[in-house]
Amino acid sequence: MVIKTVEDLQEVLFRVHSSGKSVGLVPTMGALHDGHLSLIKRARRENQATVCSIFVNPTQFNNKEDLEKYPRTLDDDLKMIEDYVDFVFAPTAEEVYKEPATEHYDFGDLEKVMEGPMRPGHFNGVAIIVKRLFDWVKPERAYFGEKDFQQLAIIKSLVKQYHLDIEVIPCPIVREDSGLALSSRNKRLSEYEHKQAANIYRILQESTHLETTDVAKIRQFVADEIAKVDTFRLEYYEIVDGETLQPIQNLNDTDSVVGCITVYCGEVRLIDNIRYK
Ligand code: PAJ
Repeated sequence: MVIKTVEDLQEVLFRVHSSGKSVGLVPTMGALHDGHLSLIKRARRENQATVCSIFVNPTQFNNKEDLEKYPRTLDDDLKMIEDYVDFVFAPTAEEVYKEPATEHYDFGDLEKVMEGPMRPGHFNGVAIIVKRLFDWVKPERAYFGEKDFQQLAIIKSLVKQYHLDIEVIPCPIVREDSGLALSSRNKRLSEYEHKQAANIYRILQESTHLETTDVAKIRQFVADEIAKVDTFRLEYYEIVDGETLQPIQNLNDTDSVVGCITVYCGEVRLIDNIRYK
């Protein structure tokens, strides 16, 4: 069932909640692929009702062109997920932002690194839409991909700060056979760029097998390898504590270590990450 308004959404979900069913929410911006589908299937396994939202959220885009070029494929999206979800919430921007987006969230150091400075206002926009979806849907569980590793940390912080009774479920990155992480933005790569893009994961994987725990050396290796691939321009590669997202100096500094990368492949901004431990 496709729902367009907040009023209808709340009405339908009131009945679901009243009947004692658990609700799983999968927020998306559409142009769905098997990565999204893995979240939806997991939500379906773990809840009695599944809601998928499809909404290209303007407040999280700090680049007008990126927002305009974002693929919109609602009919295909609906076909792909119809067998797996109970409700699809696909509102217009006017509907979502009847109340103007004036909320200001503070994620402290979590938003001062990586995507934070690169995309000012991005995480505030993400938090605005996700918090509104949480308030409207009131899910027991919400599913987010580890592909957007920093986003996941921001959402966990949102839930903690507002004492929301929602379990945030991190889901592993789904990749093509080539290793390229599935992304709606991959649709904008040329055939050649698409082939080249597989080098991101190859390089990340190789960087986990180096004979050093010195983060500066590992980062240098990744930067050098990325520079060898035509079509690539490295925006950043950070090796961070997987909980605080703060940069570390040595892999032995902490228990959870993740390398997060953003690379332009041609004009397309791709992000990925890999776990060192
Ligand atoms: P979107 O990019 O559509 O992604 C929706 C969800 O799918 C996110 O949790 C993302 O991490 C996950 N996802 C994307 N590609 C994946 C992959 N290859 N493997 C596993 N999971 C993957 O992220 C957003 O939308 C928005 O910021 C949103 C949270 C919906 C707020 O607008």
